[in-house]
Amino acid sequence: MKFFIDTANIEEIKEANSMGMADGVTTNPTLIAREKGDFEDIIKEICKIVDGPISAEVISLDTEGMLKEARHLASIHKNIVVKLPMTIDGIKATRQLSKEGIKINVTLIFSPLQALMAAKAGATYVSPFIGRLDDISNEGILLVEQIVEIFNNYAFDTEVIVASVRNPLHVLDAALMGADIATIPFKVLSKFASHPLTDKGIKAFLDDWNKANK
Ligand code: G3P
Repeated sequence: MKFFIDTANIEEIKEANSMGMADGVTTNPTLIAREKGDFEDIIKEICKIVDGPISAEVISLDTEGMLKEARHLASIHKNIVVKLPMTIDGIKATRQLSKEGIKINVTLIFSPLQALMAAKAGATYVSPFIGRLDDISNEGILLVEQIVEIFNNYAFDTEVIVASVRNPLHVLDAALMGADIATIPFKVLSKFASHPLTDKGIKAFLDDWNKANK
């Protein structure tokens, strides 16, 4: 399973990368807005740190605007994946850009049929947002289960990026379902790196060692 880091924060990306946990990075306009500096400069900096797919999202809502923005973003670096919203315009742009060899991550996926449509249009990735479904009392992880099953049924190459991950259990469930990728906020990654029994065990070993005066 690949871990992407869901942030535009350079320090977090560097830290996750030094742990070997950043197979890629996903950003969105909200994550970029949280950071200081120009959008393209931030994306270029991320591309220098992580050698893997780096998602950068367009803000246009019409197909023509998306095509223009996407071609420009893709020209910044070979690892750029263009994020397009799951709309009819986004699907048309996905179809065209995929033919041009530009990798597309169709984002804001909330139903299995949206994912199927994006895969048929040639998307390299789809991003189901599971936390936001949980927020409205729909079990987000069930969406992942259905998408994985559909893609397996028809041997689609499109990879599933589990997004809007809010806690370690989201990652565990996604891994058990065979999702290709989870894009994880750094805070969540740090949570499942540690365990109280690990800390307790380390302390007990050191205490015993010191008591024995080795
Ligand atoms: O990459 C976008 C996605 O992960 C957003 O998450 O927490 O804003 O729903 P969230």
